[in-house]
Amino acid sequence: MRQMLIADDEQSILDTLKIFFENEGYGVDTALGAAAAKSLMDGAIYDLVITDLRLMDGSGEEILEYSKGINRSSEVIIMTAYGTVESAVRGMKMGAFDYVIKPVSPEKLLLRVQRAVERQNLMAEVGALRKEFFDKYSFQNIMGKSPRLLEALGVVSRVAATDVSVLIEGENGTGKDLFARAIHNNSPRAQGPFVAINCSGLNEGLLDSELFGHVRGAFTGAIANRTGLFEESNGGTLFLDEVGSMPLSVQAKLLRVLQDRIIQRLGSNKMVKIDTRLITASNRKLLDLVKKGEFREDLYYRIRVVEIRIPSLIERRSDILLLSNFFLEKFSKAMGRNVAGFSREAMNKILEYHWPGNVRELENSIESAVALCRNSMIEMDDLPKSISTTDGLINYVATHSAITLEELEKRYIIETLKAHNWNQKKTADNLAIGRNTLWRKIRKYRIQIPPPLKLPA
Ligand SMILES: Nc1ncnc2c1ncn2[C@@H]1O[C@H](COP(=O)(O)OP(=O)(O)OP(=O)(O)O)[C@@H](O)[C@H]1O
Ligand SMILES: [Mg+2]
Repeated sequence: MRQMLIADDEQSILDTLKIFFENEGYGVDTALGAAAAKSLMDGAIYDLVITDLRLMDGSGEEILEYSKGINRSSEVIIMTAYGTVESAVRGMKMGAFDYVIKPVSPEKLLLRVQRAVERQNLMAEVGALRKEFFDKYSFQNIMGKSPRLLEALGVVSRVAATDVSVLIEGENGTGKDLFARAIHNNSPRAQGPFVAINCSGLNEGLLDSELFGHVRGAFTGAIANRTGLFEESNGGTLFLDEVGSMPLSVQAKLLRVLQDRIIQRLGSNKMVKIDTRLITASNRKLLDLVKKGEFREDLYYRIRVVEIRIPSLIERRSDILLLSNFFLEKFSKAMGRNVAGFSREAMNKILEYHWPGNVRELENSIESAVALCRNSMIEMDDLPKSISTTDGLINYVATHSAITLEELEKRYIIETLKAHNWNQKKTADNLAIGRNTLWRKIRKYRIQIPPPLKLPA
């Protein structure tokens, strides 16, 4: 049975509504005023809270906040007199399910209560399904079920237990950080430190002293001793992000350290033994940098004893739906909003888009959509403009292939002809060109029109 709490200043209203809703099969508690309502909420979980906006000892907004603080999925309906609709609207923005104007007709209120219950049922169902789904397809917060991602995860679980150096390659936002942490967390070094540094944007001297440390007076400005990250990550893992940006001089030093397993702080001749597992990441293909002479080949082979390539999101479209739902759940929880899913239109756009910023872009887009969403579903309008207005296919072609404009035109004409059963008039109409123009293009591109099918007499 659904439990509801009704709060008002007038005993007669409470009595009427209690009898009415008990007859409809609800469990009903009533509270005369805000303090009474709060003390009841302290002792029981209510599925629904119906409260007057103005109470002699408090406000409906206060009750709303209190109730959401105890149980986010409990829905609150606000009753208000005519003059106070604005504050009722404010209540909606704070997460109330709905409001009704006084004098309240129990029948009308019932309709709203029923809608709130429907939403709760839906959310519970979606929540249970999602949990099952997420447990099945996650490893250390890494979600995915596409074969290519699972392959990469397989490597993670195999190398985690060892001490070998791992190179992670993947475009921006594909999850390189996440993977590096997953390796560390599943390794025997998990209790040790995980130290990360981004090699891009640091000049030679700075990166050198960050990694290897220095002693006081080693250079102008070295006013104190500094432990390097290699020493700090002793017993744990050192993660060098954007390793491709490392200046050649630092590369030479890193190579020596990896060979000897010993470091010397800048300006010191003391040798320090190190016990660190190295994980590196790059958003560019490191081998290309080797070919261009920007990355040392010997170092390359030393850091990529095992290589993991994380596929870009477009290479694993089958994960988009799973990730979208995962982020939807994550952000609706974080923002205290009950968003059940995506409209079909919105989902199609998401699936169609080419996601140049990969998982990070998807995550950010869903976060803003959840914040903007006004209904229980994310609609097209809630998505960032770059996604809702883009033509995914054209965008994909433009970014991923070297096709010429003429080639594109030719193929587009062929596909349109096929779609209209090789009917040239319909094709020309569809392309909004004249039949003569179409005919000229067919000749120019030497498009073969198949002879009409002869049906048996
Ligand atoms: N498979 C995944 N499942 C869940 N969340 C993911 C997944 N992949 C990436 N993310 C999330 O996407 C965001 C970007 O991931 P991450 O920072 O690991 O990418 P990156 O490859 O290191 O990016 P960059 O190259 O920009 O540094 C993070 O918030 C991360 O939690
Ligand atoms: Mg990163």
